[in-house]
Amino acid sequence: MSSIVLGVSGGVAAYKAALLLRALTESGHDVRVVPTPSALHFVGAATFEALSGNPVTTDVWADVPEVAHVRIGQTADLVVVAPATADLLARAAAGRADDLLTATLLTAHCPVVFAPAMHTEMWLHPATQDNVATLRRRGAIVLPPAVGRLTGPDSGPGRLPEPADIAALAQLVLDAGPAALAQDLAGRRVLISAGGTREPLDPVRYLGNRSSGLQGLALARVAAARGADVVLVAANVDGPAPFGVRVERVGTAEELRTAMRTGAREADVVVMSAAVADFRPESVAPTKLKKGSAAEPSSIPLVRNPDVLVELVAERSAGQLVVGFAAETGDAEGDVLAHGRAKLARKGCDLLVVNDVSDGRVFGRPDNAAVVLGSDGSATELPPGSKDSVAAGIWSAVVPHLG
Ligand code: CTP
Repeated sequence: MSSIVLGVSGGVAAYKAALLLRALTESGHDVRVVPTPSALHFVGAATFEALSGNPVTTDVWADVPEVAHVRIGQTADLVVVAPATADLLARAAAGRADDLLTATLLTAHCPVVFAPAMHTEMWLHPATQDNVATLRRRGAIVLPPAVGRLTGPDSGPGRLPEPADIAALAQLVLDAGPAALAQDLAGRRVLISAGGTREPLDPVRYLGNRSSGLQGLALARVAAARGADVVLVAANVDGPAPFGVRVERVGTAEELRTAMRTGAREADVVVMSAAVADFRPESVAPTKLKKGSAAEPSSIPLVRNPDVLVELVAERSAGQLVVGFAAETGDAEGDVLAHGRAKLARKGCDLLVVNDVSDGRVFGRPDNAAVVLGSDGSATELPPGSKDSVAAGIWSAVVPHLG
């Protein structure tokens, strides 16, 4: 359990702070909400008090004997400001201390994450961009805002990332430190495949695999938070897309292949984390295969699917980095890493993320561990952790290889 300060400034998106608070407390954290006075125009203090179980004050004149304006920041493990308005970012960048939240920001020794939300013009204004640059230079994490529907009918960058994404990224910073959300993918175009393909047998049945897509979703979420422009090709992945990520949903290996080959033309980094079926039924029955009928099969003839990763490697543009994944188990012919090295050579990609999937590890589980092998002979071990922290480790291994 960590001690988190949730700063809330005065924008309409303040209502989402209640959901973020809920997500953080459900993860077992002790959360102290520090709204600005204007945030309370949008959400009442009682809501934050009830959901956090902690008192809520906005100014430095409450609890004076406790010296709250110093103590709250000093004792926190993490400060998350969501939403962070243009005004809050400006006051934080200027080092002001005119309410309890800005005073807390000045006394916090822990990582600070700002999740901006404002109208597009305000976000893009040079004053705001300068303030964001100042805060980042001082070590704060300022998440890129999501692009989408704003308060009115208009849309553009400036939307608050969804509470579930902010909660996941807050947990990542607690687990892996602020470097996990460095802005080192800013301006990079990233294409990621995730999930597992399904190869139809008849209108109701398919051959599939156990990939949940959670690692691919984590890669997309962390890349977007690190500033990348992300396209996710999602094969049968449940759940909403992470903020800032464009999703193309596919079903079969053939659909995934088309989406990846098209998307790769516009990408600086291509990551094949999807589990692509190596085989598909030779033919798809147009109607349901019924038992006892003349069409009842006694076996299913299979044909090979193309190897998408090998094709992407063959078609890659100059300077483009291609990252493969390998789910391996050790056997009589070699251990997990030996199989990984052989696969890296066979596929020809630049980096290969090797997962040990013995004993039901990894699939559908929230945690993971991996080794990133490089075609230059490098091996980077990523310690066991959440799929978001493994994703952050993978991006940190990728960045030095980018031109
Ligand atoms: N892959 C792919 N197209 C396929 C099969 C796999 O692009 N038809 C990609 C996966 O997305 C992954 C990598 O290749 O990035 C390795 O996948 P894996 O299933 O471990 O490898 P296979 O080629 O199936 O090798 P093997 O069955 O020999 O272990």
